[in-house]
Amino acid sequence: MTQASLDEAEVCTATATAYMSGFANEFATEALPGALPVGRNSPQRVPYGLYAEQISGTAFTAPRAHNRRSWLYRIRPAAMHKKFVRTEQTRWVSDFDAVPTSPNQLRWSPPPMPAEPTDFVDSITTMAGNGGPEAQTGCGIHLYIANRSMKDRFFYNADGEMLIVPQQGRLSIATEMGHLTVEPQEVVVIPRGVRFRVDLPDGEARGYICENYGALFQLPDLGVIGSNGLANPRDFLTPVASYEDREGAFELVARFQGNMWRAEIDHSPLDVVAWHGNYAPYKYDLRLFNTIGSISYDHPDPSIFLVLQSPSDTPGVDSIDFVIFGPRWLAAENTFRPPWFHRNIASEFMGLIEGEYDAKAEGFQPGSASLHNCMSGHGPDAETFERATVADTSKPHHVANTMAFMFETPGVIRPTRYAAESALLQDDYYTCWQGLRKQFNPNVR
Ligand SMILES: [Fe+2]
Repeated sequence: MTQASLDEAEVCTATATAYMSGFANEFATEALPGALPVGRNSPQRVPYGLYAEQISGTAFTAPRAHNRRSWLYRIRPAAMHKKFVRTEQTRWVSDFDAVPTSPNQLRWSPPPMPAEPTDFVDSITTMAGNGGPEAQTGCGIHLYIANRSMKDRFFYNADGEMLIVPQQGRLSIATEMGHLTVEPQEVVVIPRGVRFRVDLPDGEARGYICENYGALFQLPDLGVIGSNGLANPRDFLTPVASYEDREGAFELVARFQGNMWRAEIDHSPLDVVAWHGNYAPYKYDLRLFNTIGSISYDHPDPSIFLVLQSPSDTPGVDSIDFVIFGPRWLAAENTFRPPWFHRNIASEFMGLIEGEYDAKAEGFQPGSASLHNCMSGHGPDAETFERATVADTSKPHHVANTMAFMFETPGVIRPTRYAAESALLQDDYYTCWQGLRKQFNPNVR
């Protein structure tokens, strides 16, 4: 494996899965020696007879610190395919007006594997969301439950970048920019427009997706934390260039303005031999997150667990926060250690990748999902509350073998008809708080 950046005036050459380290770096990588033009982005003739093509993920005029684009040197331009035709609507939706949004606390059991062979794209099932792709704000929140590799099919999403959170089974993702393999407790982000194919090395795969219609995910500023901590840039991995020179009867599937479209294509669109830039897929191992918390009393807001943020136009307010609750030590003294009872202006969609979540005794298995919307009261269940109020807080407690996450948005997260009417919806979820006893006694302080 080699690693390089343009600053080092060096390029990567690899034919297998290999990664370059860093977040939104100026990467430079080539699968054939000398394929990457030197100096010019678009020379009159590109080495090896390749075509030069730019893909822009931000406005041309975006400030330099946020400007993201890459130059691809490929066997055929992306324009080469037959006409797109709209295909039957799937369970992937991008409008969230189908059913009235309830203020109830909601929780869903894990979905079972489909009965029929279903690939990654066809398995995407929308649970909830807000905003939409036309306005380029908000997000769609989906599950995928796949048991077939994408054979001779390729996909891109023009509506948003896709943050994929595997919960079961690895994903082998071949993209225009190279190849990534991700496993549960890792996440991968595929930028808007980048073409890819998903194979399932374990035969089956299940997980969560945040389809971000808005500004690209970025690392949060660290303020008083200092220059290290939370998700460190060096742990984000971007694939090196690798390409397919394949011809045949293939299908290119596009997600565009809330619809699925398909076009015939007579070659693999994963034919990029070299590329440079800072608009590219990346993966991150959540187990490398540097978790920071209280070492005196109380515990900070969950923003302390922020991995990635999609900023809004309002300073300090994100359109989406991707937050994790991983292994950590609880050391706060004379403190109720589980997450407290709360109501927020923000809305919270949670999932569990592995283990148990420390605020829920049962009913929230890996693969489950929960939704606590704007100002809906929630917090630890009765059993967790009883346990935490008598716990010995003179000793630290290790929360081990767990990985939960949250997609948090300032806009209300609206369940789809599928989610609202699903048999997986736990009708009795509200009862987990009904056992909380009245403890008030005005005569005993
Ligand atoms: Fe919450």
